[in-house]
Amino acid sequence: MYSQLKEINHKPEPFEFYTADSLWTDPHTSEQMLSYHLNENVDMASRRKVFIEKSIEWIASHFAIDEQTKICDFGCGPGLYASGLARKGAQVTGVDFSARSIAYAQKYAQQEGLKINYILQNYLEYDTEERYDLITMIFCDFCALSPSQRKVLLEKFHRLLKDGGAVLLDVFSLEAFNNRSEVSLYEHRQLNGFWSANDYYGFMNTFKYDQEKVILDKYTIIEEEKTKVVYNWLQYFSEGMLKNELQNSGFVIQETYADVAGSEYSENNEEFAIVAVKK
Ligand SMILES: C[S@@+](CC[C@H](N)C(=O)[O-])C[C@H]1O[C@@H](n2cnc3c(N)ncnc32)[C@H](O)[C@@H]1O
Repeated sequence: MYSQLKEINHKPEPFEFYTADSLWTDPHTSEQMLSYHLNENVDMASRRKVFIEKSIEWIASHFAIDEQTKICDFGCGPGLYASGLARKGAQVTGVDFSARSIAYAQKYAQQEGLKINYILQNYLEYDTEERYDLITMIFCDFCALSPSQRKVLLEKFHRLLKDGGAVLLDVFSLEAFNNRSEVSLYEHRQLNGFWSANDYYGFMNTFKYDQEKVILDKYTIIEEEKTKVVYNWLQYFSEGMLKNELQNSGFVIQETYADVAGSEYSENNEEFAIVAVKK
């Protein structure tokens, strides 16, 4: 028992393990996630509907979207942005590794008569001959990646963009980092059965890495037959930190906003969004 508790409470190195698939592609959790995506009134797996609609309007006008515009949405989920942007006339590709979300997105597009190219793949491995005008990565998924994964992704974005093409992405700020604290929680059927249809006990340990501005929510889920550990990493950014990463991959940050709907930037916000252009 002591050694198990020691293991549960062990703080790993930043980004030591990558378990995003346990969260998004597991048959049970992906079903929970899809219902969060589709819940129009909560900011859970996707933001709420009013925000998404505002964001689509802003993206369409800011990037002057028309029938010639080619967009790739990384981590598109069930296609809430992809379908809105396709309705604005853009040629949209959506990449996601959740089979459940992609199946929903494809069915919805078919029902609505929208021509969208959905690809079921880990976006870190996605490659194509296609070249895009705009790449989006929305709802801070960039923060879930390690520095080396972010580098791989930014170099991919650079390669997949046309000259002068842009990236729109949002991240958590240092203000959000400062508002978080370390906690240890233990709960029967933690998060109301989110982790499994079976009975289980869940531990959640939140670790802060002050120097790296990283937070880990480490979940240890103990069922009768098996135990699984899910590592939810988040990198928090200052504008300068994000600028550096983008510059090192051949981008210039053109604009900074409070969100991907073009609201005015303030350092006190918990999130911010950038438009970066391929140099
Ligand atoms: C926070 S959700 C945001 C979804 C969508 N951008 C939105 O705002 O509605 C993150 C999405 O990224 C996907 N995702 C996470 N890691 C991925 C990876 N390595 N490859 C492909 N998709 C990934 C998840 O399946 C999920 O749909």
